[in-house]
Amino acid sequence: MPKPLHFNAFVMNTASHIHHGQWRRPDAGQTEFNDVDTWIGLAQTLEAAKFDAMFFADVSGLYGDPEADFDVYAHQGLQIPSNDPTVLLAALAVHTQHIGLATTSNVVQNHPFNFARQMSTLDHISRGRIAWNIVTGINENASRNYGLPALTDHTERYAWADEYVDIVYKLWEGSWDEGALLKDKEGSRFSDPSKIHKIFHQSARYRVEGPHLPAPSPQRTPVLFQAGSSTSGREFAARNAEAAFIIAPTRDVARQIVDDTRRRAAIHGRLPEDIKFFAGLSFIIGETEAEAKAKEAEYDRYVSVEGYLAHMAILDRTGRVYPPKTPLSEVDTNTSKGFTEWLSKAITDREPLIEDLAWLQARNSRIVGTPEQIADELELWRDAGVDGINVINWVIPGSFEEFGEKVMPVLRERGLAQREYAEGPLRQKLFGAPLLNDRHPAAGYRGAFAGGPASWEEANAAAQAAEDAAAQVHV
Ligand SMILES: Cc1cc2nc3c(=O)[nH]c(=O)nc-3n(C[C@H](O)[C@H](O)[C@H](O)COP(=O)(O)O)c2cc1C
Repeated sequence: MPKPLHFNAFVMNTASHIHHGQWRRPDAGQTEFNDVDTWIGLAQTLEAAKFDAMFFADVSGLYGDPEADFDVYAHQGLQIPSNDPTVLLAALAVHTQHIGLATTSNVVQNHPFNFARQMSTLDHISRGRIAWNIVTGINENASRNYGLPALTDHTERYAWADEYVDIVYKLWEGSWDEGALLKDKEGSRFSDPSKIHKIFHQSARYRVEGPHLPAPSPQRTPVLFQAGSSTSGREFAARNAEAAFIIAPTRDVARQIVDDTRRRAAIHGRLPEDIKFFAGLSFIIGETEAEAKAKEAEYDRYVSVEGYLAHMAILDRTGRVYPPKTPLSEVDTNTSKGFTEWLSKAITDREPLIEDLAWLQARNSRIVGTPEQIADELELWRDAGVDGINVINWVIPGSFEEFGEKVMPVLRERGLAQREYAEGPLRQKLFGAPLLNDRHPAAGYRGAFAGGPASWEEANAAAQAAEDAAAQVHV
């Protein structure tokens, strides 16, 4: 039997995440995202269908030009209002047993000491089912929300992420040795201080003393997800990610991204199977092809051209979405050049209009057909080197109910989807062991702080000595 694909449900704690305009459908339950029962019900549906994980996207501010008004985002329900997914995971953890729970957290939005503590707490609550999608952010308004004057430069954002993960790895992997937690009632020792260490981390943006306050959780480090597609993003994934998310217009492009990232990972001493790649796809399912096509036409009736353009931040210099019939040659956007280049390559027989871009995006990565046709297509994605699929929804919970009821049985029949959950924490389900493997950079911090410095003075002296030694080598 072939290796099954993994399946994540890609969601966001808001009304309009990816497919803009669909919240207006009568069957769209995502309008009730404030109601915790919406999410508990969905998590249980997904667990019954044996999805591997529920993956929450998140942003920490508005899209678009921060100097312009944000009317279009408010009208569209486009990621405003939105709630914090990390808090929600605690509720989902106690109403499910097996499904992985992934949250997105931007490095600007939380101090690493606090973030590491929150993740450990969630990993304890969920008995080891937490994953973290590491993002560096693209929204100027988010930067302003955290006191920065502007969006940090792209290369610098990834340098920041490097620094951030270094700290949380030290706390999760290095601060507590195995066996530090005693719970020894007779001996009156709850934990063994000789096995708990301060980390004395100092770098450009942070100074963190430690120790980590939580005792080790089932996975210690949550499963690490990443979704950057630039060269720096792929480099970061190659070093850090255990699951990488890609949105690729074709299987060939997916294969190129997978191969390139795996090649980079090998340079960092990791193996190809250390990173699982998930392609984001949405599905329109019919009993017959004709029924699927009819449903597609109906979804298309709800597409909001304005919503897709606002999400891509294709805005004029005053922050307005262009009128749909604007020719591409009249578009002068300061934000996402990649999208307009995509449009000029996709439509070559006439002058492309800006609305064409919204339609390209709405139809991108869409698979329409019967469950059998969808299974055929997914088999091809697997053959292109993809390990899993991020199922993007039109409506909650309907898109996932339909996928679970109609497509999953066909996939299972063909060995393309798991029949049962494997035992143990999420990492064990995905990779066969609950803790990060020794090839991951975080593993280098295991035992690294035993016998380490007892004060900042000692820590600084040790750092200076290491610097001097390195300088000697260069001489
Ligand atoms: C499937 C997918 C999901 C993403 N989810 C988020 C998200 O939830 N929040 C966010 O701020 N960025 C998200 N991103 C954006 C990336 O994580 C990354 O920050 C962005 O692409 C800029 O990095 P890059 O220049 O390396 O591509 C997502 C990207 C992809 C492909």
